[in-house]
Amino acid sequence: MTFLRVRELVSGYDRSTVLGGVDLDLDAGAVLGLLGRNGVGKSTLVMTLMGLVPVTSGSVLLDGEELAGRRPDAIARAGVALVPQGRRVWATLTVAEHLALAGRGRRGGWTVDAVYELLPRLAERRRQYAGQLSGGEQQMLAVARALVTNPKLVLLDEPSDGLAPSVVDQLVGVIGRMRAEGAGILLVEQDLHLAFAVSDEIAVMEKGRIVHRVDTPAFRRDPDTAHRLLGVA
Ligand SMILES: Nc1ncnc2c1ncn2[C@@H]1O[C@H](COP(=O)(O)OP(=O)(O)O)[C@@H](O)[C@H]1O
Ligand SMILES: [Mg+2]
Repeated sequence: MTFLRVRELVSGYDRSTVLGGVDLDLDAGAVLGLLGRNGVGKSTLVMTLMGLVPVTSGSVLLDGEELAGRRPDAIARAGVALVPQGRRVWATLTVAEHLALAGRGRRGGWTVDAVYELLPRLAERRRQYAGQLSGGEQQMLAVARALVTNPKLVLLDEPSDGLAPSVVDQLVGVIGRMRAEGAGILLVEQDLHLAFAVSDEIAVMEKGRIVHRVDTPAFRRDPDTAHRLLGVA
């Protein structure tokens, strides 16, 4: 059985269909980097997988369980966690309050203490309000908030956006740990350096569909295709 099996997923907003039939497979313990120009529907895809954008039609099977049409809280309980674009931490809650809320009722190795050990800067800041943290610290908090749910499937939407290189390196480490523990990871990224550093395979989206998918070394050997699909060298 495929760990994550998405078929003909269609979704969008009031007046517009954005996802025009997405097919996507992902194995447990694998990282898929999802690239694509601005506005092609990458965020809409991860938000649809999380139940935050309603499914019009299609199927999302996780470990054989149908998630399409479920509410975000049910999808979270099924083991999916989203690190949203733009972090979306709650400015008036402290670091500790974020992690206590997110980890409530969840079982697994990623306790709040284990996450503090992995990310000591967050431990130092545990009594600070999220709104007082730097951008990099907020991003780490968004990642930590996902980790304490002990997710099976992690959806990361441009986590490196605006981060200093040292924080990006830390992200590489955290993604590697999640993967080693058997989580499946879908990583939306603009930073090709990060995407290449952690992804087993690269998929490219165009106009609401996955149009290209190869292993990362093959993608790197083919700059013409990258240029055609992404407009980068
Ligand atoms: N909340 C929304 N309401 C209406 N349209 C939206 C909304 N969010 C995104 N869109 C539109 O959906 C399309 C895909 O956007 P998005 O999924 O954010 O793309 P990406 O993440 O690849 O940049 C764009 O045309 C965008 O304008
Ligand atoms: Mg986006």
